[in-house]
Amino acid sequence: MIALGCDHGGINLKTAVMKYLDDRKLEYKDFGCYTDESVDYPIYAYKVAKAVANKECELGILCCGTGIGISIAANKVKGIRAAVVSNEFGAEMTRRHNNANILCMGGRVTSEEDAVKFAHIFLTTPFSADEERHTRRVQMVSDIENGVFSAE
Ligand code: RB5
Repeated sequence: MIALGCDHGGINLKTAVMKYLDDRKLEYKDFGCYTDESVDYPIYAYKVAKAVANKECELGILCCGTGIGISIAANKVKGIRAAVVSNEFGAEMTRRHNNANILCMGGRVTSEEDAVKFAHIFLTTPFSADEERHTRRVQMVSDIENGVFSAE
C-alpha cells in the first residue's frame, strides 16, 4: 500500500501518480488534499508520514509546490526518510543508498511526466541492504534521530 498526499501546489503531480498507480492496479491510500484550494502542507505530510512510520503503508509520495516544505515536515516524524527528488538518478539512489521511505516532488518544478517516471523508479528500486556501508549510514541517521549518535 502506497500513501499519497499533497497540498494545492502538488495536486497535479499527485493526480498523475494516482493515474499511474491505477493503470498498474497498485493499491494506494490518498490522504488528501483533494482540491486546489490553498491548504497547509504539514497536515498532509504528517498524515502520510504517520501511515508510513506505523507501517500501515510501505512507502509514501508527497507533493507540494517545490517538494521542500512537505519533506521538511514529513522528516519530523520518527522513522521517516523523506527525499526531495528532481531527477531519475536521485529517485534511484535515494532508495538504493538512503532507504528513503517517502518520495517528495514539486508541482511547480517537476512535470507530471517526470513525476510519474520518478515515482516508478522510486517504487521499484530496492534498498541495497546487502551493502554494509549503506545499512551502517542509514543506522547512523536513525541514531541521530534517537539521540544516541556519537560522531567520535
Ligand atoms: C504553497 O504555496 C507552497 O509554499 C508549498 O506548496 C510548498 O512549495 C512549500 O514548500
